[in-house]
Amino acid sequence: MITKLTIDRIMEATDIVEVIGEFVQLKKRGANYVGLSPFANERTPSFTVSPAKGIFKDFSSGKGGSAVTFLMELEKFSYPEALKWLAKKYGIEVEETVESTENKEEENHRESLMIVSGYAAKFFHESLLETDEGQAIGLSYFKERGFSNETIKKFELGYSPDQWEAFTSKALKEGYQQQFLEETGLSVKRDNGTLYDRYRGRVMFPIHSFTGRVIAFGGRTLKNDKNVPKYVNSPESEIYHKSNILYGLFFAKKAIRDEDNCYLVEGYADVLSVHQAGIENVVASSGTSLTVEQIRLIGRFTKNVTILYDGDAAGIKASLRGLDMILEEGLNVKVVLFPDGHDPDSYVRLVGTQAFKTHIDQNRKDFILYKTDILLKEAGNDPIRRAEVIREIVESIAKIPDSIKASVFIRECSHQLEIDERALLSELNKMRLAKARKEAQQNTRIIEPSDYLTPEELPQELPVKKEDSSQEREIVRLLLLYGNKMIDWDGIANTYIGPFMIAELADVEFEHEASKKFVAHYAKEVEDGNLPDEQFFIHFPDKEIVDLAVTLLATKYTLSDNWYEMHKILVPDEQVNMKATILGAIFHLKKQKVGKILDGLRVELQKVEGEAATEVLLTQYMHMKKVEKSISDYLGSVILK
Ligand code: GTP
Ligand code: MN
Repeated sequence: MITKLTIDRIMEATDIVEVIGEFVQLKKRGANYVGLSPFANERTPSFTVSPAKGIFKDFSSGKGGSAVTFLMELEKFSYPEALKWLAKKYGIEVEETVESTENKEEENHRESLMIVSGYAAKFFHESLLETDEGQAIGLSYFKERGFSNETIKKFELGYSPDQWEAFTSKALKEGYQQQFLEETGLSVKRDNGTLYDRYRGRVMFPIHSFTGRVIAFGGRTLKNDKNVPKYVNSPESEIYHKSNILYGLFFAKKAIRDEDNCYLVEGYADVLSVHQAGIENVVASSGTSLTVEQIRLIGRFTKNVTILYDGDAAGIKASLRGLDMILEEGLNVKVVLFPDGHDPDSYVRLVGTQAFKTHIDQNRKDFILYKTDILLKEAGNDPIRRAEVIREIVESIAKIPDSIKASVFIRECSHQLEIDERALLSELNKMRLAKARKEAQQNTRIIEPSDYLTPEELPQELPVKKEDSSQEREIVRLLLLYGNKMIDWDGIANTYIGPFMIAELADVEFEHEASKKFVAHYAKEVEDGNLPDEQFFIHFPDKEIVDLAVTLLATKYTLSDNWYEMHKILVPDEQVNMKATILGAIFHLKKQKVGKILDGLRVELQKVEGEAATEVLLTQYMHMKKVEKSISDYLGSVILK
């Protein structure tokens, strides 16, 4: 762990305008700086940096935070990675404490596996470029496939000698431990306990983590023998989980962000060829069918995915269902097909970069429209099968979380399917509703009414109640702004607002996830004798908390204005009557919680059977009613006078 002292030094040295200025062109406007959001496509700048507070707020994407959060968002750094980046920029030496032995051991273990993998990549790369066998067999193969020296170097391509122990014996001689050779799968154990090389006489494709370290390999045979597997890949290990790795991501991530699009291909060779042609925003799922983790990984860099398929119809059909998953994650999916028998690799080599790009631009098709096309062709004139197609398409559209986008697809597909838009809509609504009911039963999510449901269509049962977190957030806002201020109200003195509020709220359970976390952390600090301030939370290692803090600080008075209006309270400036502000917030929240309990009791009272049970519930109900009344009275006396 990076020491507190180092973190403080980094924070002190960090100039947020300078840091963000490396990525975004900023212009001074008043006390702040503005620029175009690096997280969204926009023409008018809505991205604001406040040097005084050391925060940024991006009004188009809603993101906000400190310089550290900015780096985490944009560069996808982890918290320590972002700190180290800043330390390097400002020439600060990073001190790290020794972690708990268990953590340390685990970290050491993973580190050892990565070191062995890095060593192996170097071994294979050198044997490709510097040995006779490597040059004659491996290098000439890559050259024949059109890979340039630059590509070979950049992706650290390699060759494994066609011997049983070339790599293993060299690695052991150099002191690499048997355990790590085995766990990375680079070596395999014989019955007699000795090791041999997993990869022999294959060209090697190292697989990098998205921070650029080698964590696994794919080895391609050069034989044309049906009995030999074309690729041998690393087994799963502590550093390699293939379901959340995309081949090429490390080399593609900058371009993916710049282009705001990610090309998805199938094989290693496709990534290399397309990248070499200057289209660098390309990754491969490498053999496995696409996983949710992989989709989310892409989603961290862009919301737009373009799938480059080879023209094999059977393969396409099989993958159609998998693509719905991408829609469900809220990404936009486009598809480009290549002429029969060509994959992106062979096609770009055939026609060259320029024609390849033109092909992509002219044949890019939205996934849903493309799917409709394929299924319709297949169904022909058979009415039953056409009905199935409609169902299936609407099912895909129903997975799109953005309902406006979904409505647009409904319109376009209605043309394609030659069916009335309203019929499709009603089908879509049925599916949405079924889904909403299911989710309501599981009681996990609150569903907001969809944009494409007209008010008449809105059924009574649809749970449209929106969870109201504004009161909990108001507490967080007050803690942030005034928690470390002294109280000097009549009757209460010699204490700070923060600890006072925490004590008053001890019996309240927060529901809004981020607020709940915030208050818990605040309470913990108070317990430890600290009084955290704005900056403490702006620089907090948990992104959710930073987000909440920054949002509340950036929208300082608007929120409280609404809040007071909502409660018909006229307070010209909340600081004039701090007592009313603080106690008002606390007791309104309590009142809301009591209201909820009462709601629950009412529902139970309707269902309950038997006199005794009814009696018990009624007593509870009356009691809570009294609590509610006393809170109301109290609120009236404190605030409304
Ligand atoms: P080339 O045939 O050299 O063009 O290879 P490619 O990288 O284009 O591979 P291909 O399109 O044949 O297959 C796509 C991906 O599936 C590969 O990159 C591998 O990740 C994976 N794959 C292909 N064949 C095998 C195999 O035999 N075993 C395993 N485990 N994976 C394979
Ligand atoms: Mn291929």
